[in-house]
Amino acid sequence: MVKKAQLIIDRYFITAKTDPRIFGSFIEHLGRAVYGGIYDPGNVLSNEHGFRKDVLELVRRLKVPVVRYPGGNFVSGYHWEDGVGPAEQRPKRADLAWHVIETNAFGLNEFSDWAKEAETDVMMAVNLGTRGAEDAKNLLEYCNFKGGTYYSDLRKQHGYAEPHNIKLWCLGNEMDGPWQMGHKTAEEYGRTAAETGRLMKMLDPEIETVACGSSSVTMPTFGTWEETVLDLCYDEIDYLSLHQYYGNRDGDTADYLASSAGLDAFIQAVTAICDCVKAKKRSKKQIHLSLDEWNVWYHSDEADRALPKWVQAPHQLEDVYNFEDALLVGSMLITMLRHADRLKIACMAQLVNVIAPIMTSETGAWCQTIFYPYMYTSLYGRGTVLNTIIQAPKYESKTYGDVSMADAVFVANDDGDALTLFAVNRSLSENLEITCDLRQFPGYSVEEHILMSDDDLKAENTEKNPNRVMPKTGDGALIDGGRLTAVLEKHSWHMIRLKKTKENIA
Ligand code: AHR
Repeated sequence: MVKKAQLIIDRYFITAKTDPRIFGSFIEHLGRAVYGGIYDPGNVLSNEHGFRKDVLELVRRLKVPVVRYPGGNFVSGYHWEDGVGPAEQRPKRADLAWHVIETNAFGLNEFSDWAKEAETDVMMAVNLGTRGAEDAKNLLEYCNFKGGTYYSDLRKQHGYAEPHNIKLWCLGNEMDGPWQMGHKTAEEYGRTAAETGRLMKMLDPEIETVACGSSSVTMPTFGTWEETVLDLCYDEIDYLSLHQYYGNRDGDTADYLASSAGLDAFIQAVTAICDCVKAKKRSKKQIHLSLDEWNVWYHSDEADRALPKWVQAPHQLEDVYNFEDALLVGSMLITMLRHADRLKIACMAQLVNVIAPIMTSETGAWCQTIFYPYMYTSLYGRGTVLNTIIQAPKYESKTYGDVSMADAVFVANDDGDALTLFAVNRSLSENLEITCDLRQFPGYSVEEHILMSDDDLKAENTEKNPNRVMPKTGDGALIDGGRLTAVLEKHSWHMIRLKKTKENIA
């Protein structure tokens, strides 16, 4: 029997405009993300700068607005100076974060050039692990100062007459994590972030800064970390970060697909802590959220434990994603849209080869299953998020309690002539008929219905079989008498685009 769900929207019940930066991504000096991923000099698939053209094309297809760089755990031991200037003079270093050799053949100037070709902006992270405020300020001077100072003139000497003008800066990475080089207590980090943010904004008042929140909701310090850090650096920062990865480790797919409800609770909790500190400080300033690492990460755990140490650009964190991962990624993106009022930045971690939607070999590039929900949400999830009420049957999940079978959100485009519904049916056994009363939105008809469904939850795209899991076109969604109806097959992801037909535009 088909189960039924109702979606309720109102043209005046608006969550917020989406900040396009929630469709951001991340490139770390890790595994083959840089070397053999975005940068592969000498390969016939690369351009004159050594950038892989096939990868650039796929990144542009995703319409990635911003890419975080250069880490990640890597940044906490990084000397940015190693990666600028004449290539032959750059030192090789032991990267203690990932136990590999970093050649520094690629650095921030190359990344800035790559970002231009990828049509994206840079979100730069500074090392607050083994270094501090002074080095962060020097890096900012190198990147953003016009000229006439030591570091800005050094940039010019390196062939970059114009500043890179990077406006978004992460103050360290996962400083709450004992695995982090230079790991700090919340008090130590809060003070460091405050002083670093202050110095950096003295140099360039136009930048925005992101302080480290918890590296996962499961950290024992979660909550007190956020509160203490915010207490100490509230005035110097604009965003607080959240990081969250999920994995179907025990093979309970119903529970795994409910993980986006966990993300929802995490976002709500961090928002509440930000507002608690705001109230305590009697501040008018609102801190927004940056989910600057999120994805599925667990498939590669065992292979990574077996890797040899101190080699260059190994096959590290190369998760091969399956169909159920695409469902969870689609649902996580819906969760992010539903929090568009506070979540302004999010970075899928990562972009190429390392826990990534795009994979490469020496002879080509292909899209993992998670590429597709990411791409469609990035392309059509921009505009105004409508507060979407979901009335659907629930199922009990082991970790997250009662969870709705349906996850859904509507986004209205800026031109006012399109409404896009993103939806997931999490149920492993039941098809779900959704209806939505659209009489407040007259003149719309179904323009396109893209969906992902598959009998095999474990189906993957690989180099040999890159198109095994692909989106397809549905034909069952319709609007009749002002009511949208569609059947969402068991365990499936959907994007239904509604368009105002010309004759009906008011
Ligand atoms: O994205 C992979 C790693 O996950 C990052 O380096 C780190 O910040 C996080 O723990």
